[in-house]
Amino acid sequence: MRVLELYSGIGGLAAALASVAPRATVVAALDINHLARQVYSANFSHPVIGAAVEFIPVERFRAWKADLWWMSPPCQPFTRRGKQRDARDPRAITFLRAIEHLEEVRPTFLALENVPAFRGSDVHRRLLDTLEASGYIHRRECLLCPSTLGLPNRRLRYYLVAGRRPLAPWSASAGDDAPLPRRPLASFIDTTYDGTLVVDPALQERYAGALHIVDAEDPEAETRTFTSAYGRSPVRSGSYLRQGTLPQGTRHQETVIRRFAPHEILRLLGFPETFRLPPSLPRHKAWQLVGNSLSQPAVRAVLQGVPGLCSAQSFTPTTSFL
Ligand SMILES: C[S@@+](CC[C@H](N)C(=O)[O-])C[C@H]1O[C@@H](n2cnc3c(N)ncnc32)[C@H](O)[C@@H]1O
Repeated sequence: MRVLELYSGIGGLAAALASVAPRATVVAALDINHLARQVYSANFSHPVIGAAVEFIPVERFRAWKADLWWMSPPCQPFTRRGKQRDARDPRAITFLRAIEHLEEVRPTFLALENVPAFRGSDVHRRLLDTLEASGYIHRRECLLCPSTLGLPNRRLRYYLVAGRRPLAPWSASAGDDAPLPRRPLASFIDTTYDGTLVVDPALQERYAGALHIVDAEDPEAETRTFTSAYGRSPVRSGSYLRQGTLPQGTRHQETVIRRFAPHEILRLLGFPETFRLPPSLPRHKAWQLVGNSLSQPAVRAVLQGVPGLCSAQSFTPTTSFL
């Protein structure tokens, strides 16, 4: 199966495909952010194109002959913290253009990820109208959160799969009726860490009560959604970690509050341990890119809706993770 990855970022889709659909061919991955493309290319050999989706001529889309288009378009036009300008937001132009391309090219399948507030927006309505008019009569929409799929991390997102042919059934665990058992936070974090991750006490005091802090040893701990603003915006961009530490040469355990390192966030998103962030990538950029990416068990669950894509043993979304 040939897959086109639009708004590919660091390759959240490519990572999920590698685990559940290793025989799929990613014909192209498109993103305007050169650092995102650098991370993508450090991990995958698929062709990566640095161009704005809206400026790619429709003939090029046709020539890729992709069976599935995966899209993770910018979410700022819809986010609750933003102005929610929806179709009037200039950042929605690219996706509106992609919808026009979709109508012209009509790949057999489409899959999409966005923030929950996308559902019910004008752009959402336009997408559904286009799908209806273009023969995508098989559609499935859902909100999935990795906290019900085995990860101690919240990241509620909207997903859509649409097909001009019938979709494959979802696994039971892709629904919200039976949450999968969660691995404890302790198995996702490093016991030693870079001291520069420790939060300045002045900032802790200033935002006392507003920082979401989880305890490294708490088996029930659940981290909040890590956004692209993590490390830049002190609140509502993700969680902080309270962790005991034993400074060298002492026996007295100290407790620190620190930020999660980008690679720890990748683990919480379900990325494989083999996924690499180039050492030259500054940490604040890594936080930004990782905060934009995709939670793996949710994407794997969604991909199951595309018939013939996933290998048989992948039918429990968390199988390759746990
Ligand atoms: C929500 S993020 C998707 C991240 C991706 N799914 C991942 O796993 O990292 C949106 C991405 O769209 C890219 N982007 C924004 N506007 C774009 C445009 N006009 N054309 C192509 N890419 C664009 C951003 O650089 C960002 O990487």
